[in-house]
Order: sequence, then C-alpha cells, then structure tokens
Amino acid sequence: MKKVVIGNDHGGVKIAEKLGKHLQELGYSVNWLGTRTEDPVDYPDIVKVTTDEYKKGGYEFGILCCGTGIGVTINANKTQGIWCALPQNCFAAKATKEHNHPDFIAFGGRIDYPEDPIAILDAFIDAENLQEPRHLRRLEKLKKLDGHF
Ligand code: RB5
Repeated sequence: MKKVVIGNDHGGVKIAEKLGKHLQELGYSVNWLGTRTEDPVDYPDIVKVTTDEYKKGGYEFGILCCGTGIGVTINANKTQGIWCALPQNCFAAKATKEHNHPDFIAFGGRIDYPEDPIAILDAFIDAENLQEPRHLRRLEKLKKLDGHF
C-alpha cells in the first residue's frame, strides 16, 4: 500500500485532515503526525517529527501544512535531504512534481486557494517525476547545494 506522512500545526489542522481523508479514499495509508486541535504549537517541532519519519523510508511523499504553508516550507527546505514545494495551484503542483521531484508538498490552511486543495493534491499525485536530461541536470545542481555530494 502506498504511504504518505502528514504533519501540520494548528493553522493547518483542517486542511491536513481534509487532504488525509482524501488520500485514504484513494487507498493510501496515511500516517498523520500533526496536531489535532487549534491549540498553538510550533511548526518547527512538527516539521522535525514529520521529516524524521519520512527519512525512515517507504513514503511516496509527504505533506506539511501550517497557516500559510510558508513556515513549514522554509523549515523543511532547511532540513538535510528534504525538498518541499508549495504549489499555488494545480498547474504548479503538476509542474513541481515533473521538474523539481520534491519529497513534500505544503499547503496553507488559511490560504484562499484559486482551486480546491484536493484538486491541487490530485494534480501532484497524477504527475510523475520527469527524467528528462534538462531537469536532471538542474536537480544535480540543487543537490550540490544540499550537501549531497
Ligand atoms: C501560526 O500562527 C502561523 O505562523 C503558522 O501556521 C504558519 O503560517 C507559519 O508560517
């Protein structure tokens, strides 16, 4: 069974729950490590737990949610070996999977998205990591920044 790990702070509870339920309906095994209430927590703590779990392996991808999606994205991208995208819409979700091969995608629970976040997630799931040389060349350059080499 395909697995996804989800982490969220208090600003991302509702959207994380909505996305997690959708993934379960699609047949994914969802490991939800986020907070379940709107009592304030610190998103760096959530990102740490969620990315540590992801690094154990076996996950198709991960999802991080906070109020804007920005805090968790900054934090995840400062985590060794983790790349996190913050798609604005379905086009960006498809393109980031194809071009950037991210480990995580992030969503903002307080953001008024132009498209349903479920459709944005579906666009990400339905896309594939393109292996065209131009994308791989660019990703190799990014990996050097990440200390992979
Ligand atoms: C919490 O109030 C909020 O700062 C957090 O959810 C997130 O939006 C940070 O980027």
